[in-house]
Amino acid sequence: MNSSTSFHVPEGLDISKLPKHIAIIMDGNGRWAEKRLMNRIRGHEAGAETVRAIVRTCREIGIPILTLFAFSTENWQRPKIEVATLMVLLKKFIDSEQNEMIENNIRLNAIGQLEKLPKDVRISLKRTMDLTGKNKGMLLNLALSYGGRAEIVDMVKVLAGKAIDGKMDPHSITPEIVADHLYTAGMPDPDLLIRTSGEMRISNFLLWQIAYTEIFITDTLWPDFGRDEFLSILIDFQNRERRFGNVV
Ligand code: FPP
Repeated sequence: MNSSTSFHVPEGLDISKLPKHIAIIMDGNGRWAEKRLMNRIRGHEAGAETVRAIVRTCREIGIPILTLFAFSTENWQRPKIEVATLMVLLKKFIDSEQNEMIENNIRLNAIGQLEKLPKDVRISLKRTMDLTGKNKGMLLNLALSYGGRAEIVDMVKVLAGKAIDGKMDPHSITPEIVADHLYTAGMPDPDLLIRTSGEMRISNFLLWQIAYTEIFITDTLWPDFGRDEFLSILIDFQNRERRFGNVV
C-alpha cells in the first residue's frame, strides 16, 4: 500500500485523470455466503478482505477519497447476531488496519449517526481517527449507521436552528451552504459510485452528493470484487463524457 510501491499501470488507465472521490455500495456478502451454503457472516468476513484490497489499490494508484457504505441506518433492523458480528468485524478492521493507515498516510474518517454505534467501536474509531487525523495521502471515509435522508434531516435541523437564532437568513441559503452542513462537509462530491451485486438502486446513500456522479453497477458480489475489476471500472469511467447538465 506504500505510495512508493511501483505498480503496473493497466493499459488504458490514465493515472493523471483519476476520480477524486469514489463511493462504493458494497453489496452481496449475504448472497456470496448463501451460494456456498455458508452462514451470511462468512460473507461479511470475506467482504472485509475485499475492503482491504480496494483500500490498498486506491492508495497505490492515488485516489484522494474513498467512501465505503459499511453499515446503513436500515441495517440495524437485521437479526441481532448479524448486527453484532458486523460490529465486531468493523472494530477488528479498524484496529488491525490502524498501523497500515499510519504507515501509508491514510486518514480515517466516519460519517453517519456514529452515536448509535457500540461504545467499543466508537472508541476504536476515535482512536484511529485521532492517530491518522493529520494524514494527507488519502481519506478513507466509512459510512456507518449512515442514511442519506437522516443526513439531510440533520442538516435541515442545524440550518433551521441557525435561522431561529438569527445567525442565518433563510433566503441566503445556497447549495454550497447545504453541502457545508452535511456529514461530507469539505469533501468534493463523488465522481464515481460503484455498486456491486447488480441491484439498480441507491439505497439511501449520499442522496445529495451524487447529483452528477457517474454510476457503475456490476453483477459481481462484493467478496468476489477485486483489483482488476475495479481498475477496469476506472477505465470505463475515464471514457465517459461528463456534461453536468450542460451541452458539449
Ligand atoms: C451488504 O451485503 C453489505 C453490508 C450490509 C455490510 C458491508 C460490510 C462489509 C463489507 C464488511 C465489514 C466492513 C468493513 C469496513 C471492514 P448484504 O449482506 O446486504 O448482501 P446480500 O444483499 O447478498 O444479502
